[in-house]
Amino acid sequence: MARVFDYNILPEIKERWSARAIEGTEVSDEEIMTLLEAARYAPSCFNEQPWRFIVAKDKGALDKMRGVLTPSNRVWANNAPVLILIGSKKTFSRNSKENYWHMFDAGTAWGYLSLQAQKLGLVAHAMGGFSISEARKAFNIPEDLDIMTIVAVGKYGRKESLNEELQKREQPDVRMEISELIIKTDKEGA
Ligand SMILES: Cc1cc2nc3c(=O)[nH]c(=O)nc-3n(C[C@H](O)[C@H](O)[C@H](O)COP(=O)(O)O)c2cc1C
Repeated sequence: MARVFDYNILPEIKERWSARAIEGTEVSDEEIMTLLEAARYAPSCFNEQPWRFIVAKDKGALDKMRGVLTPSNRVWANNAPVLILIGSKKTFSRNSKENYWHMFDAGTAWGYLSLQAQKLGLVAHAMGGFSISEARKAFNIPEDLDIMTIVAVGKYGRKESLNEELQKREQPDVRMEISELIIKTDKEGA
């Protein structure tokens, strides 16, 4: 099924999708830093900026990060020349109190990163399929950081590079109707 857009939104939002066919060719440092710059300018509660990044692009770090992915992700994400782990700091730096909004804010940063990737013609595919405990151990990540996702980054590749099963799934996912997302509090609507 093709995506349907009811309203005129940013082209990067329309065009972005989570491709798995990623080319192994290099992504420049300039491009990687541009993605992180976009994430950096996300808004956050008290401007805490809880997002933290571990960028794996050299062989040693890449092998280590690939090693914590589930086999079903490894099968395609191993080809990505860059993996970015996104962590989120659980407490406010100003008073060490719990930051209820930290994941919300880290999610915004990931969203900005993904749209900037689209603007640069790159895939940024987030994964939840990895071992949090192994990632924490492998990269010595402190307990005050929740590990949110590992993002595979690279240039769009050829569908044929994937196995048959993944080739069938290699298309932008559709969405629920906007009317299903607006929760009404009474008959007339909120
Ligand atoms: C937090 C998060 C975790 C995800 N985990 C995985 C994953 O482990 N493996 C995978 O192939 N895709 C994963 N995805 C991609 C989603 O399946 C995808 O975003 C969703 O189906 C919507 O499709 P679209 O991004 O193409 O619009 C994840 C996405 C997010 C945001």
